[in-house]
Amino acid sequence: MVHIISVPHAPTRSVTGSLLPNARLLSLSLYGERTIADSFRTLMTMQWGQLVAHDLSQFTHQDVPADCCRNFNHKMCYPIRLHPLDPIALKSDEICLNFSRSLSDKNSRHLSDNSIYAEKISFTTAFLDLASIYGNSVSESKQVRLYRDGLLKVDRRKGFLPIIKSNKNFMCPAQNRYCYVMPDNRNQFIPTLIILHRIFVKEHNRLANLLLRLNPHYSDERIFQEARKINVAQLQKITYYDWLPLMIGHNYVYKNGLLYHVRSPGNYVSDYNEYMTAAPYAEYAAAAFRYSHHQIPG
Ligand code: HEM
Repeated sequence: MVHIISVPHAPTRSVTGSLLPNARLLSLSLYGERTIADSFRTLMTMQWGQLVAHDLSQFTHQDVPADCCRNFNHKMCYPIRLHPLDPIALKSDEICLNFSRSLSDKNSRHLSDNSIYAEKISFTTAFLDLASIYGNSVSESKQVRLYRDGLLKVDRRKGFLPIIKSNKNFMCPAQNRYCYVMPDNRNQFIPTLIILHRIFVKEHNRLANLLLRLNPHYSDERIFQEARKINVAQLQKITYYDWLPLMIGHNYVYKNGLLYHVRSPGNYVSDYNEYMTAAPYAEYAAAAFRYSHHQIPG
């Protein structure tokens, strides 16, 4: 479908210039609202997806009214009108769901260029690189590193993630009383996601201990970087070879060159292109990837 955009940062309109149909209404009309038991994937399929989503992008909001349903025409609002027969409208008096728009380069005088498209601004690194565990910047990395034997910080008593009291620090906003020390604050709130986060922290430290035993002459920095590389490679392997086929189909990933059949363990395919922009499209990172919200049970 071809879309035209009236103003660079305005919501997309159809070729006729009218507003696009309400996506929620379309989805409910086509599929209804049913719970379908998944007979071959577990909860972990959904949970891994959220780990990947948080690793790839994080958009943010600014100057957004507290309730967009009361500010329909505010430029940072995109609330969702409910049809009178919408399941939520039927169960409550709601006629609208609060929804706001995230920041794009068009909201910033410094970043905006003359392009007609608005580019969403992401706060995470675009690569699948465990940035939610290692941090997106040197200052975030400093908060999680122990700076001894290549290790990440863990709570000394229980080996769990360290806890900090809420402070003005971006890592632990005032509304939380306590937080786990995590560069990506979004990972705080979902117990199964915290467990995945913890597994990767523990795995990093397991690898670091092993590397130190094999190479006692390595510096803290070298052990840290080597362990991180192996940990990220493990994340990428599981994501591409085990998780992706479960999400978009085994045949699809091979037919479209996302994966290759590698005949023997020593063989590999090297198709990395350093000139290709790694940043995910906003349409995917902020919209299409939310597709997995339907996999959240309950
Ligand atoms: C317990 C599970 C989950 C919860 C509670 C949850 C909750 C949320 C919330 C509250 C938002 C922000 C909504 C807003 O913009 O107003 C969000 C955004 C998002 N979620 Fe989830 N989510 C979950 C699982 C997932 C999964 C499994 C995926 C993908 C596989 C996913 C992908 C996304 C994406 C791509 C965004 C937009 C990110 C951005 O704008 O930076 N989420 N989620």
